[in-house]
Amino acid sequence: MQQDDGLRGVVAVDGPAGTGKSTVARRLAASLGARYLDTGAMYRAATLGVLRAGVDPTESTAVSEVVAQCHIEVGTDPDIFRVLLDGEDVSREIRGPAVTLAVSPVSAVSPVRELLVAEQRRIIVDATAAGGGIVVEGRDIGTVVVPDAPLKVFLTATAAQRAARRAAQDGVDDVAEIRRAVERRDRFDSSRAMSPMCAAADAVELDTTALDVDAVLGKLHELAVVRGLVVLAARGRT
Ligand code: DC
Repeated sequence: MQQDDGLRGVVAVDGPAGTGKSTVARRLAASLGARYLDTGAMYRAATLGVLRAGVDPTESTAVSEVVAQCHIEVGTDPDIFRVLLDGEDVSREIRGPAVTLAVSPVSAVSPVRELLVAEQRRIIVDATAAGGGIVVEGRDIGTVVVPDAPLKVFLTATAAQRAARRAAQDGVDDVAEIRRAVERRDRFDSSRAMSPMCAAADAVELDTTALDVDAVLGKLHELAVVRGLVVLAARGRT
């Protein structure tokens, strides 16, 4: 893979937690000089806003009212993770257990999704306007946010493997508890009425259970080249 290669257009990366989605999407964007959008971080920031307002995450009307008042900004530099809620850097806090526990019900609220999807589309249009590229990760990118994305990937892995990765990442010993939490969130995210997590009909499904990050990254890069999305800067051709 060349460091100078450039991406044009949108690569949609969807899938459940623990599939290596974030690491791979971020590294793919960095290696191709592209922008990167973590849509999960936007739902997490909205959830933090709800918790800070003292609102029950399952009270959908109150949740949408709070989120409509929140000002959420996400950076698109793959090397700098930055999320602001009403001007405050909450990049670390949105990864905490309180937000992780409450994010599924908040992200199931239709007006919340409408607001955030509109903002995601604005960011994507902006990033691709002058022939640039962006890697966007989430649960509904290929199905709802950018249904015409030229490359859609849906990453999967067994629940055991995903729980083990999450436990290692968070430095937690109780893998069984993490697995229960991961499965609970998957069930919720896959069964909600609006934009449930699922692979788009034209997505490439990739099981990452037995693959390390470099292997997954290599496959995604190869797919982007095959789809004609990678401009090889040195040779000036795709
Ligand atoms: O990727 P993550 O774990 O940070 O996502 C947090 C939650 O946000 C996840 O439980 C589902 C939700 N989400 C969503 O509904 N749609 C997206 N495009 C991204 C995330």
